[in-house]
Amino acid sequence: MDTKVRTREVFRTRLGFLLIAAGCAVGIGNVWRFPYIVGQYGGAYFVLLYLFFLLSVGIPLLTVELAIGRASRSSMAYCYEKLEQPGTHWHFNKWWQFSGNYILMAFYVVVAGWMLFYFCNFVSGNITPGMTRETAGQNFGELLANPETMFLCVFITVLFSFTIVALGVIKGVERFTKPLMIVLILLLFFMACRSFTLDGFEEGIKFYLKPDFEKFEQNIGEAIWAAMGQAFFTLSVGFGAIAIFGSYMSERHRILNEAVFIATFDTIIALLSGFVIFPACFTYGINPDAGPNLLFITMTVVFSNMTFGTIWGSLFFLFMLIAAVSTMIAVFESSIAGCIELFKWSRVKAVVINFVVIIALSLLPMLGFNVLSDVHIIGSNTGILDFFDFLVSNNILPIGSIVFVLFICSKSGMQWDRYIKQCNIGKGFKMPTALFFYYKYILTTMVIIVLAVGYYKIFGRA
Ligand code: TRP
Repeated sequence: MDTKVRTREVFRTRLGFLLIAAGCAVGIGNVWRFPYIVGQYGGAYFVLLYLFFLLSVGIPLLTVELAIGRASRSSMAYCYEKLEQPGTHWHFNKWWQFSGNYILMAFYVVVAGWMLFYFCNFVSGNITPGMTRETAGQNFGELLANPETMFLCVFITVLFSFTIVALGVIKGVERFTKPLMIVLILLLFFMACRSFTLDGFEEGIKFYLKPDFEKFEQNIGEAIWAAMGQAFFTLSVGFGAIAIFGSYMSERHRILNEAVFIATFDTIIALLSGFVIFPACFTYGINPDAGPNLLFITMTVVFSNMTFGTIWGSLFFLFMLIAAVSTMIAVFESSIAGCIELFKWSRVKAVVINFVVIIALSLLPMLGFNVLSDVHIIGSNTGILDFFDFLVSNNILPIGSIVFVLFICSKSGMQWDRYIKQCNIGKGFKMPTALFFYYKYILTTMVIIVLAVGYYKIFGRA
């Protein structure tokens, strides 16, 4: 156990903490995954289902991670050791949970790289007006076939994010993420307001949010699974990325307060992103796709046909890029803090080593689109990127969340009373003690269902 007393940085301002935790949560999951699954599973009904799971699963899991972080004042490296009862082995979990940071980033940075590529292409005027779906599809195909370009884009986004982390928690992460998040909010509001003026506004919002009971009922099992999965993917729980910010948090406010703020902020960003995407698609008579195509093909066609499309396209991809980069900064902070504590490295040394590791790992999903395109680990239509996504979203996230919940409920772990006490330090909403049964049995069962359905979907029908 780490017995060295070191002065740990604590965020200077509450806003700093909230925006950084929200920056960790707000990412590709909000600006892209949320809108297309809402459209796919029945609009407003799906949103209600999602809100239900956000309240019943997402927010409790957030409070668990924040409490573990603030009580241990440690990253994944020693949070178990500091809170478990002597002689127990909860801390063995840290290794595989900690690896989640790396596997997630290995593919996340690739998508962030695509965002940078499209941003640069819009800014430089490379996206010519009047593009068709075929040419846009070809462009995206060329990008995927070209590892050098992808590598350059990934390299730049990763270097930028690590440089900020290298500067420290207050001087780097807090100082840069705060303005980045403010720019993100302003961009989003600006683009969402502008959406109201588009001809296709009504039709777009109808597609996005119109309560379509038939669509909802047809796939209700899948919708429930998708809503639950989204509730924890979007909040970044499961492997300590939120806990690390709990560890830098002050004791002035109760944890439930902060968790509700983070979840609300995250949901507003997700909902508004759909307001930007769908009206634009319908204004130009383009059917919204699912998957990566929605952003990189559909939206490119939309902007290339829009008046002042170069400007709108640049702003849109800048917004997407900031959402992705704020998450990268947060996750890198989590792995850097972990390495500093585990190996007693200096921050700069940890940054350099992690930079090399992340770049090396990201080569696999990148090459999966070209040189290694014959590698299909979890199904013939999927590549290495999908496999990494599967490892994180279908395994480390849900299993990590279950372990955290059992840890705070267990007598040999952190123990329920200490969790409640930790949550209730400071001002704000009180965490009810009576939730013990709910956490230990119902919450864990819900997460196990997501896990099982995920497996069935991938392997059950083979
Ligand atoms: N929440 C992030 C997003 O919406 C992605 C994410 C999933 C994540 N799990 C995480 C980020 C764990 C950090 C840690 O894009």
